[in-house]
Amino acid sequence: MEASPPARQVSVPVLAVPAPEAVAQLSFWSDVGLAQLPVREIASAEMVRDRVCGLAKDIATELGGEPLTLAVVLRGAFVFAADLARELITNKMENLLVTFFHASSYRGTKAWRAPVIQELGEMSGDGRQTVLIIDDIVDAGHTAHAMIQRLASPNRRVEYCSLLDRPEAREAPVHPRYVGFRLDGPGFVVGYGLDYDDKYRELPYLAQWMPSSTSDAS
Ligand code: IMP
Ligand code: MG
Repeated sequence: MEASPPARQVSVPVLAVPAPEAVAQLSFWSDVGLAQLPVREIASAEMVRDRVCGLAKDIATELGGEPLTLAVVLRGAFVFAADLARELITNKMENLLVTFFHASSYRGTKAWRAPVIQELGEMSGDGRQTVLIIDDIVDAGHTAHAMIQRLASPNRRVEYCSLLDRPEAREAPVHPRYVGFRLDGPGFVVGYGLDYDDKYRELPYLAQWMPSSTSDAS
């Protein structure tokens, strides 16, 4: 099962997240001013807010006419989903239902185990034809693929909205229709809900985690 490919050409801002070894050599590293945290800001809180507003406008324009269910993928999407849902109301998308799924994935050194998707509570809104999955990042795409398979149903339209997209890491054939930022590079992103070991979710901006730091490298 494949998410429907984007029907329109949209320009998505790109954030560079090079390998950490490369970042350490970049001149702007010292400008970040976050000496306490082993992170490098890549998108300010204001940039993220602007992008969320833009996504909400796009979604309202394209899906505004129909009753919509938001299916939030926990845990990483909790901040993004909270802001996006409120922006949708600002864009006159009323009558939303919000429901939650928990996704966990397991990566061995090489092997991939299918992500485990757990529905939290039971999805209400029988008869609603459009579900928008809200996720933090589509990386290899296995989680997105599993979510789409889980929600696919005859006569139901399933669309995908991800704050971040790293197309170069893709292994599963998924193409999120709505994307906040595209990532260029393998660097690990934290903040605005995304974590490293449950840390940094509370940061209001997006940042690249820098594993060379002594505080986190253990
Ligand atoms: P997938 O590889 O597309 O299935 O992504 C699975 C999950 O891995 C995402 O939902 C995130 O929770 C996590 N993930 C992948 N890349 C990153 C990252 O750069 N930062 C934080 N979490 C990530
Ligand atoms: Mg996730």
